[in-house]
Amino acid sequence: MNRVHENWALGGVPVSNRVLLAPLAGIGNWFVRLQAKRYGAGLTVSEMVSSHGLAYGDRRTRTEFLRLHPDEGPTSIQLFGADPAIMREAAAIAAESGAALIDLNMGCPVKKVCRTGAGSAMLRDPDNAVAVAVAAREGSGLPVTVKLRPGVRPGDREGVDLARRLAEEAGVVGITFHPRHSSQQHKGLPDYDLAREVVEDLPVPVVISGGLLKPDKALRVLEQTGAAAIMLARGSMGNPWMFQRVLGERTGLPEPAEVLAELGWVIDRAGEHYADGRAARYLRKFHPWYLERLKEFDGEFFTRARLNEINQRLQSTETLDQARAVIASIETLIAV
Ligand SMILES: Cc1cc2nc3c(=O)[nH]c(=O)nc-3n(C[C@H](O)[C@H](O)[C@H](O)COP(=O)(O)O)c2cc1C
Repeated sequence: MNRVHENWALGGVPVSNRVLLAPLAGIGNWFVRLQAKRYGAGLTVSEMVSSHGLAYGDRRTRTEFLRLHPDEGPTSIQLFGADPAIMREAAAIAAESGAALIDLNMGCPVKKVCRTGAGSAMLRDPDNAVAVAVAAREGSGLPVTVKLRPGVRPGDREGVDLARRLAEEAGVVGITFHPRHSSQQHKGLPDYDLAREVVEDLPVPVVISGGLLKPDKALRVLEQTGAAAIMLARGSMGNPWMFQRVLGERTGLPEPAEVLAELGWVIDRAGEHYADGRAARYLRKFHPWYLERLKEFDGEFFTRARLNEINQRLQSTETLDQARAVIASIETLIAV
């Protein structure tokens, strides 16, 4: 019996199991988190939210990124930013959203983020990173976690040292460790041996993110590292069934009818999130992930050519009803 079903607590917040949804920029909104929760995720993290955007009162940042659904949760809101005073203010605003925790992004390798001193640039300024974490804790009054990487370049260990300081000096209650250096971005093999070392070294729970694309691998990494939990990122995009499969609640892949029904659910929720035309355009990145599930299905019907054709139709939809009509036409075809 593996540990994935065990409940645990992160900074006093009860978490029902050990498989979590990772922060995903441009993706991890309330309905993606709600979906992960429906399929079993023990805790979900929002897409990263700019502390400057919140503190400077940007309406879109507040209403869009801090929107939580009453049935999701526990939810952690992830913030990024390198200025402690601004982080204090932003964390206070984020706490009003109903989040259970605040997570700080100290791992993002994207240039636009690092240029401001935020994301993985914070690994190279540990005193400021500690000050930002203290500010987030004091500003929000919530437990704070940090997601980071081992370092900027292969061989660097500044992230490992920073993780310890964050736990000991900043009162951070947990660390999410993505054991790839930021110069690797999201490619290359994660160093799970290093992850184990960090798990053993830190006085707070460690969550592992990185390379968890298949259920058996995710479970292996949970055991190999001894981590408190694992976090699904790309492996869960358009694939909420991954949570059930990691939890051992489902053995097989979803049937095409289930995949299409789930995409229908996503289309409806996107319509609650954005105005119709914007929702339709926003969903264009989601469609290929669901079609990927159909490719996995062992059957003659969903050939590559047919899936390409369906995708092209979905990519050109301008309204949600047009997207619904494409889905309905496939549902009719597979029903006969
Ligand atoms: C599209 C995309 C967006 C991401 N956005 C964030 C983010 O907002 N905050 C963050 O800490 N990590 C972000 N990440 C990193 C993931 O949370 C995760 O750590 C990484 O993808 C490694 O996990 P994987 O190999 O299982 O995908 C993002 C990754 C991807 C692919």
